[in-house]
Amino acid sequence: SKIQRKDYDYLFKLVLVGDSGVGKSCLLLRFADDTFSTSYISTIGVDFRFKTLSVDNTIVKLQIWDTAGQERFRTITSAYYRGADAIMVVFDKTNRESFDHVKEWLDEINRFSEGSVRLLLGNKFDRQDSIQVSEDMGKRFAESHGMKYLETSALSSHQVHDAFLLATKDLI
Ligand code: GTP
Ligand code: MG
Repeated sequence: SKIQRKDYDYLFKLVLVGDSGVGKSCLLLRFADDTFSTSYISTIGVDFRFKTLSVDNTIVKLQIWDTAGQERFRTITSAYYRGADAIMVVFDKTNRESFDHVKEWLDEINRFSEGSVRLLLGNKFDRQDSIQVSEDMGKRFAESHGMKYLETSALSSHQVHDAFLLATKDLI
């Protein structure tokens, strides 16, 4: 019989969390399909996508879970933190409240996931005229919580690939 070969060296589970509307689904669509839509279709429960990357001669398959930010789905989505290799907490740089809530997301994550790599993403970097959370604020918060920080834009693609790559490199 034929030997089954895996088409990757590593399989990692990544989870996107954060308030509703911060751009989690758009970040995933930008990364996975290189597309962007301005229409807002709020995620129901969870979605996931696979994306395979080549990093330093290593084939990494990412299973990326895109969770719903809406409060009413909190009990469903928390189950998906379990077994996550990396968790990306996303806030919207033009929405101070979404940044203030990052602390609560971390508390929630800590209840269900241990030892996962954590990244903080300040999204909607393109909206420079409406910024409510500076790079310095994001950086300082991330540093004090043992996270790396990146500013992204699903619209312009700014640092989207870098964010997923950074999470992956921390896992290899
Ligand atoms: P839930 O599924 O409800 O948790 O929201 P979400 O975090 O998945 O947000 P989603 O990706 O659906 O984006 C919400 C809205 O923000 C949409 O109208 C997007 O077009 C817009 N958006 C997302 N990312 C960006 C970005 O980087 N820049 C700008 N200008 N708009 C963005
Ligand atoms: Mg969504």
